[in-house]
Amino acid sequence: MSLLRKRVIRIVVDVGLLVGFGAEFITREGPDYDLHSWIGIVLIPMVAVHLASNWRWVVSAVRRRSAHPEWPLARFNAVFSVMTTICIVSGFPLWFEWIEGGLLSTVHTVTGFVAIILALSHLWRNRGRLNSLLRRTSPAV
Ligand code: HEM
Repeated sequence: MSLLRKRVIRIVVDVGLLVGFGAEFITREGPDYDLHSWIGIVLIPMVAVHLASNWRWVVSAVRRRSAHPEWPLARFNAVFSVMTTICIVSGFPLWFEWIEGGLLSTVHTVTGFVAIILALSHLWRNRGRLNSLLRRTSPAV
């Protein structure tokens, strides 16, 4: 795949994730949770592509751990990923009404809010990379 094509995909996916998290926030109180849930489902492949396009960085951080120059960011990203995963996974039983709200609803709400805040922080902490991506200089890995 050409570099230009890869760059366009990265930009589209990153913008899509920002819009997606924003849309999850806006639709979080229903009243119809289908829209909210479908946006969450669309987020899954976008997160997968986002991870795949940064996979070299992820592998390098996992291998080098505290010797990695961006180890604090790697730990932050791990917490962000766990929160987002719990939020998305816990959404399904609530949507299909397999389980009465209660604790699961609290888990989904708390991890959802945390994930949205961490998504904004993740963007801010990666602002240098975003700049390179948008300015056509070679993106930092
Ligand atoms: C990153 C993705 C997501 C975020 C950030 C998110 C965020 C939230 C938040 C903050 C609430 C609480 C609303 C409130 O009471 O103030 C909520 C509720 C809800 N979400 Fe999500 N959500 C996400 C993904 C999903 C997915 C994938 C599904 C379904 C497959 C889903 C289904 C629901 C349902 C059914 C409720 C109502 C819960 C209840 O009855 O207590 N969400 N979401």
